[in-house]
Amino acid sequence: MASSMPIQRKKTSTSPTIISDSSDNDRKEIKKSPSLVMILLQGTLVVIIVFFLSSYLFTDTWTWGYNNKYTNWRNWIPRKEMIFTEEELAKYDGSDENLPIYLAINGEVFDVTGGKHYYGKGGGYSFFSGKDASRSYVTGCFETHLTHDLRGLTREQLKDLENWVSFYRDHHTYYRVGRVVHKPIDPNSPIPPPCNDASDKKS
Ligand code: HEM
Repeated sequence: MASSMPIQRKKTSTSPTIISDSSDNDRKEIKKSPSLVMILLQGTLVVIIVFFLSSYLFTDTWTWGYNNKYTNWRNWIPRKEMIFTEEELAKYDGSDENLPIYLAINGEVFDVTGGKHYYGKGGGYSFFSGKDASRSYVTGCFETHLTHDLRGLTREQLKDLENWVSFYRDHHTYYRVGRVVHKPIDPNSPIPPPCNDASDKKS
């Protein structure tokens, strides 16, 4: 009788340990096997990486050569619309290297700092910077029509102007920053006359 006691104690004392070990192992096994969500996330990540890497490999761009306002990260940042007076806008004409370059077209102001070689100091189109020169976009008079005065333009010219606005809106580098509030045009002032001087046009 006395000799069987320790055997019974041993059985009862080891039994809970065995159960505990197996449940730990079970837990470990559950942790080890990745969940469906993890598999999906990892799969998606791999697809995204392959997408961008192969785009760069084949097209030298990260977006398969697709470039427009949606590939311009600045358009994804919500920003407060800035309102400029004509005098305020004039400060952003590219003459101050520390300021961005802004231009306005049909009242909309765009940051065109990305096109510094066109719009910055000495650039071929620097006369557009710091102002709303809408009229000159459709008449080509880059000296006498640097104004927002659209009086007398044809329907076709106004359509051309809208295309230029879209050019800046949809650009992959430029982005809209706000609006310029123009001084009202005196209806009695003369409409800017057409320019016939060839030197006034881009050549
Ligand atoms: C109504 C007439 C015109 C307007 C409004 C106009 C406007 C512009 C603008 C805004 C740009 C810069 C594009 C950008 O930001 O990416 C540009 C670039 C350019 N334009 Fe014009 N343009 C006109 C006529 C011409 C003409 C007649 C020529 C050539 C004879 C010309 C040649 C160029 C060239 C070569 C560029 C590339 C940048 C440069 O070298 O300055 N453009 N144009």
